[in-house]
Amino acid sequence: MAILQSIKGFKDILPGETELWQAIEEEAKSIFRHFGFREIRLPLLEKTELFARSIGESTDIVEKEMYTFQDRGGDLLTMRPEATAGIVRAYLQHKLYARDAVHKFYTIGPMFRRERPQKGRYRQFSQINAEIFGQASPYADAQLILLLVRLMTVLGVSDAEPHINSLGCPQCRPAFRDALTSFLEGISDALCSDCQRRRVTNPLRVLDCKVPGCREATTGAPALKDYLCSECRDHFDTVRRALEDQGVTYTVDDRLVRGLDYYVRTTFEIQTGALGAQNAIAGGGRYDGLAGALGGPDIPATGFAIGLDRLAEIVGTLRRPALPHPTLFIAALGDQARHQAFAWLSRLNTAGIAADMEFGDKSLKSQMKRADKLGASHVLIVGEQELEQGAVTLRDMTSREQTDIPVDTVADRLMKQFLNTGG
Ligand code: HAM
Repeated sequence: MAILQSIKGFKDILPGETELWQAIEEEAKSIFRHFGFREIRLPLLEKTELFARSIGESTDIVEKEMYTFQDRGGDLLTMRPEATAGIVRAYLQHKLYARDAVHKFYTIGPMFRRERPQKGRYRQFSQINAEIFGQASPYADAQLILLLVRLMTVLGVSDAEPHINSLGCPQCRPAFRDALTSFLEGISDALCSDCQRRRVTNPLRVLDCKVPGCREATTGAPALKDYLCSECRDHFDTVRRALEDQGVTYTVDDRLVRGLDYYVRTTFEIQTGALGAQNAIAGGGRYDGLAGALGGPDIPATGFAIGLDRLAEIVGTLRRPALPHPTLFIAALGDQARHQAFAWLSRLNTAGIAADMEFGDKSLKSQMKRADKLGASHVLIVGEQELEQGAVTLRDMTSREQTDIPVDTVADRLMKQFLNTGG
């Protein structure tokens, strides 16, 4: 019978890779602590309406990528394609704004989008999200970008560069949208079929199309920066100055419109050449109108999400995380020895010592092989004969030196020797 395979675009992350993921997550969590972010954990399923109202009806995500189904009670539910909408929902539902004027959250977990799978693009993928609520200031945007730059530096991702843009606000964007719409009307024939549609439903997205024909046709398109109101321009200038003060080099990319409709003012991505077409390791921006649009008070907010799969792929080419290995392996021979060995093993594990043993009836040779494979620094050899004679042997796997230890002192002796060895 054929073995069942995982769903296309859904991948397993196996031991060997998980250590790398954990190392990245630990670095991120440590930076979040320093920057004042606290963890929030949210459901993977939300009402479909939440995403339609926040990400936007005419975005690729909502139009064609969501995993949506009706549950047995008839409710229309969606596997979250991103985390921001859910975080805003929770923030409003629990009236967190009434507890404190400013909140900084982070969350790490899986998202679901039915995109065409390829390198760096999956149907289940993980994100590290950060969101700041209650700060209208450009310094909040700058802080998020600096946090991303810091994380990339710590992880050794040296070719990651922030790309930034301003999308304007409800005051200045309509004039730009009108100008762009008129421009696109004139070049309509040169656009791909997706952009023919976007031209009407979501004209800004045409600027972001990767099809060479569309790129070429839109080279002379109006630029957002020429339409920004003075508040938006000041906001953007302050973000830029704050980055420059920290010595961060960045690219201003006035085609960076992002694939979600909730953004205003600052948008940004961290891009890299390491992943081919999927060049964004992280993306984010300001979404001041979203809390209000979802029925809550008008609260400014800004945030980002890192694509953890993509980041792990890049970091994995740069370094291998240290794999955990037991400090001690216990090789037991015979039932009685195994029973005694298991008692010692349990005591050591409980005390926080990384130790392991073979539970089956295996030869000493095969157990030594296993100890080697696991990378144990020491092996305790427990045979029936040794037990009868009252002493077992501890072998140092590096120096090959052997020491006899009286049976009644084994547990204490091992505890003393291996506790605090970092095992
Ligand atoms: P996004 O640009 O859709 O933004 O996703 C952020 C990052 O998630 C991308 O830069 C990419 O690294 C990763 N990503 C997206 N789709 C996939 C996929 N199919 N496979 C692998 N990785 C993927 C958002 O999701 C916004 N919620 C970010 C945000 C937070 N804005 C404000 N706050």
